[in-house]
Amino acid sequence: MNLILMGLPGAGKGTQAERIVAKYGLPHISTGDMFRSAIKEGTELGKQAKSYIDAGELVPDHVTVGIVRERLGKADCRGGFLLDGFPRTTAQAEALDDLLAETDRRIDAVLYINVDRDRLMERLTGRRVCGQCGATYHIKLNPPKQEGVCDKCGGELTHRKDDRPETVKTRLEVNEQQQQPLLDFYKAKGCLKEIDGNQPIDDVFASIENILGSLSA
Ligand code: AP5
Ligand code: MG
Repeated sequence: MNLILMGLPGAGKGTQAERIVAKYGLPHISTGDMFRSAIKEGTELGKQAKSYIDAGELVPDHVTVGIVRERLGKADCRGGFLLDGFPRTTAQAEALDDLLAETDRRIDAVLYINVDRDRLMERLTGRRVCGQCGATYHIKLNPPKQEGVCDKCGGELTHRKDDRPETVKTRLEVNEQQQQPLLDFYKAKGCLKEIDGNQPIDDVFASIENILGSLSA
C-alpha cells in the first residue's frame, strides 16, 4: 500500500502513523520529522529548512520534493510506504505522481484526517514529543503515565519549538490555504478517504483500519 496521511497541523497524522506503522509495517516518511532531524544534526538540509520551520512557513517545494524523491528511492519503500505531511502543495502532489510513475507506482489512498479548526490550537500547544523515540503525547488529551517521561522508552518529553501559539497560528493559516486544492486534486483521482479526526485516538484508528481493510480486500 502506498499511502498519504493528510490533515492540518495537529490533526493527528503522527499519532495515527505510529499505529499504522505498528500494524501494517510500512516505512513512515514524515517530511517534518526529516527536517527536524536534519536541523538537530546541523546538515545542509537542516540549515536550508530551519528558518521556514521556526516561522511556521512551508519549506520550498524543490527542497521538500528532493528529500522525498531520495527517500522513496530506498529499498524499504518498494513494498509500500506511508507519507505523513507530504504533499502539502499541488506542485508537490504533481511532482510525487511523476516520481512514482518513473517506477510504475501510484498512490492507493489519501487518508485525510479532518478535525474542527477550534480543536487544533489546544492539541498543538499541549503536545509533548519524546526526544528519544519520537512518540507523541498530549498533557491532557493523551498524557503519559508519568509526567515528562515517555511510556515506550523512558525518554524525556519535549515541547516542539513551532508549537508556540504565535507560530501555530501561522502554520494553521499557511496549511489551510494549500489544503483545499490538494483535497480537490486527490478527490478527482478517486483515492481521497476522509476520516473524522474529532473522535478519540483509538476510534480514528479504527476508521483507518476499516478503510485499509477494504483497500486490500
Ligand atoms: P510537521 O512536523 O509535519 O507538522 P504539521 O503538519 O504542522 O503537523 P503536526 O506534526 O504538528 O501534527 P500531526 O497531525 O502530526 O498531529 P499529532 O499526531 O502530533 O511539519 C513541520 C514543519 O515542517 C512545517 O510547518 C513546515 O515548515 C515543514 N514541512 C513539513 N512537511 C512539509 C512539506 N510537505 N512542504 C513544505 N514544508 C513542510 O497530534 C497533535 C496533538 O494532538 C498531540 O498532542 C496528540 O497527542 C493529540 N491528538 C492526536 N490525535 C488526537 C485525537 N484523536 N484526540 C485527541 N488528541 C489527539
Ligand atoms: Mg506530525
